[in-house]
Amino acid sequence: MQCNGDGSRFLPFLVLCVLACGCRQDMHNQPKYIPYRPSTFFLDTRSERDPVPGTIARGTLVEDELLQTGKQAGADATVFPFPVDVELLRRGQERFNIFCSPCHGRDGDGAGMVVQRGYRRPPLSTRTASGRPHQGISLM
Ligand code: HEC
Repeated sequence: MQCNGDGSRFLPFLVLCVLACGCRQDMHNQPKYIPYRPSTFFLDTRSERDPVPGTIARGTLVEDELLQTGKQAGADATVFPFPVDVELLRRGQERFNIFCSPCHGRDGDGAGMVVQRGYRRPPLSTRTASGRPHQGISLM
């Protein structure tokens, strides 16, 4: 193919491309309510609807206070929410080794691999300065 340099053969193609791009609608225009815009569909003219009675926002359901918050009647709990047996301890050790030992070290000495490479060393203690059990323990 020889190119004559005037580009006239490509002009219709270029125009078609520009027009095709301009017609792209996809989901840009669709019937939807934008927050706080009025509605003529609902009698109260509000577009946003109240949640169904009894709806609970994701992550806010507390069915078992002791298990989910580590508290009893609002105070820090002094008991575990489930029986502690060897199987549970093994699972906890496995989880600790995976998620915590990189900083805290496998035996909790605070000398994990991340710390050996310069990250701040965690404390040995598992209690806060006030002497209370650390919140992180009960929230896991
Ligand atoms: C990225 C490193 C890192 C990881 C991973 C990590 N920690 Fe820590 N942790 C720290 C550091 C640093 C501190 C000290 C924070 C401070 O003093 O403010 C700390 C503090 C703590 C404390 C408070 C100790 C005390 O005496 O006050 C507890 C409890 C704790 N971590 C538990 C865990 C558990 C459980 C895991 C795993 C689920 C974990 N950490 C994972 C770095 C880490």
